[in-house]
Amino acid sequence: MHVIDGRRIAGGIEKKIAEEIAHDKPHVSTILVRGNEESELYAKLKEKACRRVGFESETIAFDEGATEKEILGEIKRLNDDREVHGIMVQLPMPGIDYGKVVNAIDPAKDVEGVHPFNMGMTLLNREFLVPCTPLAVIKILEHEGVEVRGKDVVIVNHSNIVGKPLAAMMLNRNATVSVCHVYTDDLMKYTGNADIIVSGAGVKGLITEKHVGEGSIVIDVGIVKEGEKVYGDVDFDSVKEKAGMITPVPGGVGPVTIACMLENSLRAYRGVAARSHRKN
Ligand SMILES: NC(=O)c1ccc[n+]([C@@H]2O[C@H](COP(=O)([O-])OP(=O)(O)OC[C@H]3O[C@@H](n4cnc5c(N)ncnc54)[C@H](OP(=O)(O)O)[C@@H]3O)[C@@H](O)[C@H]2O)c1
Repeated sequence: MHVIDGRRIAGGIEKKIAEEIAHDKPHVSTILVRGNEESELYAKLKEKACRRVGFESETIAFDEGATEKEILGEIKRLNDDREVHGIMVQLPMPGIDYGKVVNAIDPAKDVEGVHPFNMGMTLLNREFLVPCTPLAVIKILEHEGVEVRGKDVVIVNHSNIVGKPLAAMMLNRNATVSVCHVYTDDLMKYTGNADIIVSGAGVKGLITEKHVGEGSIVIDVGIVKEGEKVYGDVDFDSVKEKAGMITPVPGGVGPVTIACMLENSLRAYRGVAARSHRKN
């Protein structure tokens, strides 16, 4: 059994980005509504990651009670600003229609790959800016030399930012995909026969050794916080005895997701810079 080192993979991606942008300065802006400790922490993590590779980064923080009009106005300003190459929106945004906010982002600056245009492109096998967590799963498998073509992949999650785009990305790579969720009758029936299991339910210990076939690859996207401790969906100690490869939590998908946000930002930077150049 091999424990996949997400921090090392992320470090490699970041190093390559830092080398590639030596003379450039991609600028990424995050919009945040204050009042949620965790979301403020994530915004800080993203800013730190941007600085590590030499990007410019800012968090635009609104006070609790900010209106949809204010947020949409800020997005318009960032869309129009040629010096801004990437826009992220930190959830939760209480009382604000997230769909409207996402729709307002210029798809070329959508570094989290959540705009309907980018989702559609992903579904059409024309991936450009894809959601960061599914991209992290793909990057991890690529890094570990796992070919997904022809493999049975089971995804436990059907959310818009994880399960659905990941299913499309796996299909784009010719895997055979099953997507499970809370209404799936017999989860084990699917996971037990899978070559690759990707679980992101956010339920501690959901995937036990009984769910996993001998030698299968287990990627744990789940994050469950209990006090200071962080757990995944997978009962790591029992599953690691049976799996061929496994990601830990923490130190697995999380750091690679951040690195993928940086990679998307670089891609957006190149696209936006080329567009500005054409307009000049
Ligand atoms: N590592 C990272 O970088 C990263 C990034 C993003 C998210 N996450 C973590 O990944 C998890 C999912 O995030 P999300 O935003 O996609 O959350 P979400 O929207 O709540 O989605 C959870 C998914 O899991 C399914 N599910 C929940 N309980 C289940 C169960 N007992 N059996 C089978 N399926 C079940 C849900 O089905 P229903 O919709 O039918 O309930 C849903 O499809 C969370 O723990 C989150 O913290 C990690």
